[in-house]
Amino acid sequence: MPDSWERFHRHLLRDESIGLSLDISRMRFDDALFERLAPRIERAWADMAALEAGEIANPDENRRVGHYWLRNPDLASEADAAWIRRVRGEIERFAAAVHAGEIAAANGNAFRHLLLIGIGGSALGPQLAIEALAPARSPIDLHSFDNTDPAGFARTLERLGDGLAETLVIVASKSGRTPETRNGMLEAEAAFARAGIDFARHAVAVTCPTTETFCSILDDLARERGWLARFELADWIGGRTSVTSAVGLLPAALAGVDIGPFLDGAAAMDAWTRRTDARANPAMLLALMWHHAGNGRGEKDMVILPYCDGLGLLGKYLQQLVMESLGKALDRDGNTVHQGIAVYGNKGSTDQHAYIQQLRDGLNNFFATFIEVRDSRPGAGPVAVPVDESGAVSADYLQGFLRGTREALSENGRESLTLSLDRLDARRFGSLLALFERAVSFYASLVNVNAYHQPGVEAGKKAAGDFLGVILAARKVLEEADGAALDAAAVATAAGPAIPVEAVYHALTHLAATRPDFEVKTGATPAEDTFFRKS
Ligand code: F6P
Repeated sequence: MPDSWERFHRHLLRDESIGLSLDISRMRFDDALFERLAPRIERAWADMAALEAGEIANPDENRRVGHYWLRNPDLASEADAAWIRRVRGEIERFAAAVHAGEIAAANGNAFRHLLLIGIGGSALGPQLAIEALAPARSPIDLHSFDNTDPAGFARTLERLGDGLAETLVIVASKSGRTPETRNGMLEAEAAFARAGIDFARHAVAVTCPTTETFCSILDDLARERGWLARFELADWIGGRTSVTSAVGLLPAALAGVDIGPFLDGAAAMDAWTRRTDARANPAMLLALMWHHAGNGRGEKDMVILPYCDGLGLLGKYLQQLVMESLGKALDRDGNTVHQGIAVYGNKGSTDQHAYIQQLRDGLNNFFATFIEVRDSRPGAGPVAVPVDESGAVSADYLQGFLRGTREALSENGRESLTLSLDRLDARRFGSLLALFERAVSFYASLVNVNAYHQPGVEAGKKAAGDFLGVILAARKVLEEADGAALDAAAVATAAGPAIPVEAVYHALTHLAATRPDFEVKTGATPAEDTFFRKS
């Protein structure tokens, strides 16, 4: 780019008080973009104002969307503001009491480990926040059950070992009925029972409370069994935007993160991104750049490249935030649009030894988002060890790789954005997440989709439920077959007319792999495989 310096200083947006800047100069947009999209930008301002004023932004579930209130309760209704302050106070008091040993494990020792059981937004936010911000000698180290994989449960429990006796368990589920989370809770409860420890004295629920109109199985269970504590969510907090609610704040506070500056940073970014001047609003600039890169149809993937180990999970976190929010079949007028933006990424310079080869030389189907942390020294310590004869230090290399990759991509016609943080602390981290939250909202308005529902996830849950039914039916047929060996077609016929043979075959294979009393005799092809129950 011959005019790169000129473009850089013209297109750098920064806020000294927040300590964050956005450089869009390596995106090849033309200035007419702002005019072309002006009506959509106006719609985005209006949508955001309505959302923040408490309009029903998720019509599927008849819900408001209020994560912005969590860091500025003054914007919420009086009742919601009082609730936000109450829950935050409860979190701070609980974390302080755990750190002081006033709330302790059943054996009287202080809690040293945290097992977080949750999935999606109920896991990614706290995992990212703790990886980014928790002190190296965190008062409590984090372990997670964020799937329903028995091998994963076993490995985590094995790692905890005797430490289970000093493990605090947080079960986080907004709906209180997510199967993976329920399974994780039951597996944890069983592990505590095997170790002879009272689970209830170690267990904490984070969920929407059961009311006259809403039932959280998790809340009911925690209440009935007298769990150590319960922290409330509200129906206006979406899973993927729950990091500034108890979902993110409680684990982070327990791990030693200062949640005050985290919330302040998010609030400061919210204030900045409320400005209705597109060129001075970093969230709108991000949304416009995403629109430019993918022609408003998500034609290019978003690659997240933080040059910072602490932000190694950011790509995964943003993957959910962006893809669950924007990946929609229908727009808000009911037209079929199949919108979305694919997101992936890990961290630089690590990824330079992985897929950056393709970014530089291969398919030009992406735009990169570099995230720079200017002061990467741990604490305010000395500049560190010289690592070559010129006296350069590791941080110089990190910066060199970032700048070099950005330049190389640019020379090859590949676009990039660069976000720079002065340093990685709770305030700047809060502002970074809030920036992406609002950019997603704006982008959804630009392309006219609803960012706050997830109909596709419901379809996936239903399909999984259907397959559980096939497993049950196949098992019943084999149990009633008196040890006879049957192929999939025979089992399907016996199981019922509506069940496809292939589904039955997968169910039988699964049973043979996971149950000691079922076996498979492999034939020349899957059609000739036979299954039986050992007597
Ligand atoms: O994936 C669907 C989803 O509802 C996410 O939006 C959410 O973060 C996740 O499942 C977990 O949901 P819950 O907190 O209700 O268990």
